[in-house]
Amino acid sequence: MRIRKVVFPVGGLGTRFYPITKAIPKEMLCIIDKPLIHYAFEEALAAGIEQFIFITRQGKNSIEDYFDHLLTCSDEFKSGNCSFCYVRQSEPLGLGHAVLCAKHLVGDEPFAVISADDYVAHEKSCIGEMIKNYSGANMAAVMTVPHRDVSKYGIVDVETETDELVTARSVDEKPSTDQARSNLAIVGRYLLNPAIFDVLQHLKPGVKNEIQLTDALLKMIPTTGLTGFKIKGKRFDCGSREGLLSAILHVSTGNRKLAGIIKKFREDI
Ligand code: UTP
Repeated sequence: MRIRKVVFPVGGLGTRFYPITKAIPKEMLCIIDKPLIHYAFEEALAAGIEQFIFITRQGKNSIEDYFDHLLTCSDEFKSGNCSFCYVRQSEPLGLGHAVLCAKHLVGDEPFAVISADDYVAHEKSCIGEMIKNYSGANMAAVMTVPHRDVSKYGIVDVETETDELVTARSVDEKPSTDQARSNLAIVGRYLLNPAIFDVLQHLKPGVKNEIQLTDALLKMIPTTGLTGFKIKGKRFDCGSREGLLSAILHVSTGNRKLAGIIKKFREDI
């Protein structure tokens, strides 16, 4: 199924990275020389996406400036079909609310959502692989996490499972360790049926008093279904200090010059 549009929700506060995120958007934090949002953009571009919709907020203008610069200095984008749109999220009311802000731009077609703070390192575009497996049900990227971490994620209750996909019987946002029905967590990649906008519009705030995308996915299971796509490659939660540092080390070790610096650093300490 053809997916032409991606939503990048970049309106979050990034509290785990205070104080830097008081002045710099979390999505502009860097893995070496490119900000997180650039990696997300490349992943979407490699999947054939043509329209890039950013849900931004006060203090996030550097993201627009960054892509303005990228567009003017790259012939590939000047001549291509890419279009960029920016929508302001008035208040950070949650991921579900951020997605709802894109309703008028997405219209009545399935679309992708990528959280730039979830960096997936793999030779193939993760969202591109999801698109190849997409058949119209809502789809979320999933991975197994340690049981102690289940309360950081939306957790899927699995009905059926193949090597690549699961179908969900249910999904819970941030369950406690004793309530989680599996260790299979949703991470920041989604393919969504446009019917989700009507559901989000009527959704009450959930965990953390935010409009949760997971709650909309749960409501739609009886009508639209929910498929989990098991991600390949390594995923880093770059919204946390540990995750960002691990991603930087991962990318560096794949680069001959930088790997040499890490090796020397380890020998010296
Ligand atoms: P997070 O759950 O990581 O929240 O959002 P956050 O505010 O960015 O970070 P912390 O937890 O306070 O450190 C997941 C994704 O959803 C976006 C974020 O920008 C991030 O890409 N988001 C979240 C929004 O766009 N709007 C919101 O209201 C909330």
